[in-house]
Amino acid sequence: MKLLNLDRPATPDDAALWQEGRLLLLDQRLLPHQEKFLHCENAADTAQAITDMVVRGAPAIGVTAAYGVVLAARKAWERAGAGWKTAMQPDLEILAAARPTAVNLGWAIARMSALAQTLDDEVNPEPALSAEASAIHQEDIAANHVLGDLGASLIEKKTSVITHCNAGALATGGYGTALGVIRSAWAAGKLEQVYADETRPWLQGSRLTAWELVRDGIPVSLLADGAAAARLAAGGVDWIIVGSDRIAANGDVANKIGTYSLALVAKAHGVKVMVAAPTSTIDMNCPTGADIPIETRDPEELLSCGDKRVASPGAEAWNPVFDVTPAKLVDAIVTEKGIVLSPDVEKMAAHMG
Ligand code: MRU
Repeated sequence: MKLLNLDRPATPDDAALWQEGRLLLLDQRLLPHQEKFLHCENAADTAQAITDMVVRGAPAIGVTAAYGVVLAARKAWERAGAGWKTAMQPDLEILAAARPTAVNLGWAIARMSALAQTLDDEVNPEPALSAEASAIHQEDIAANHVLGDLGASLIEKKTSVITHCNAGALATGGYGTALGVIRSAWAAGKLEQVYADETRPWLQGSRLTAWELVRDGIPVSLLADGAAAARLAAGGVDWIIVGSDRIAANGDVANKIGTYSLALVAKAHGVKVMVAAPTSTIDMNCPTGADIPIETRDPEELLSCGDKRVASPGAEAWNPVFDVTPAKLVDAIVTEKGIVLSPDVEKMAAHMG
């Protein structure tokens, strides 16, 4: 994998770029201090980049995986000609295993595979598959604009909000889910200011969300992850707005670790919780939150801060990177199809039906 610069500054919409058949990923591990792109030459590179958090956020992972399937098909066609469908299967498995929680990963691979099955064995599949990957990318951006405006319509009076992790343009095809709502609310004059949890251990809040909002001129103030209860007690915050990695059929929501505690303290303070996500994040095959696979990452991520080891030698760490917020703590799930208030199994089925 090669690290390279573009001939222009990076923007939050650059999470995954497909340029003349090359997949370039903005290396989010280096933001906001360096704007470098990683060139993924094959599906294994792409999977590694997802695992290593070069690109992260459920919809962005899905978009990236779709382009990864194009790379898999290209190599399979070069190697096996008419046998490309079978030849690319191992690469699809490698891609699918890159991270477990974001359902958009499997969703995008399934959509690409379904198209692949309809293609002629004897014809180079790359043009059709790259058109499909671009469609997935563009549809995600369009969905985020729709759900952003819908979510903003729920905010009744000018207020401040808290967001957690980064559910922005960087985490999607573009515009963002939670940050899509925040961008639309800001444009509608409904937003006083955004509080962004710093989001240990990867600091997606302080590095990525703050980078996006500062660029847009939206006032952002960082909170230590444990500061939300005190901030809500101080008043002036009417909504928690977050994204999701997977929403179960009963409305339970998996999102970045700490979302569950945020929802609990929101309930205690009469503050509402909005989950903004495209329907590609809803997994109707997953009955409840208990069925969502939760990724646990290397304890080292928690024992260190950046490259510096901070924990006492001998200490261990438990590092699940997502948690599940039960549907009963969620006031609204907002997708490109509409708004589900107080989600439950029947309302989710009707929404997806
Ligand atoms: O570990 P990450 O950075 O991939 O976690 C991302 C999140 O938890 C986001 O909130 C979620 O994927 C929604 S992104 C629109």
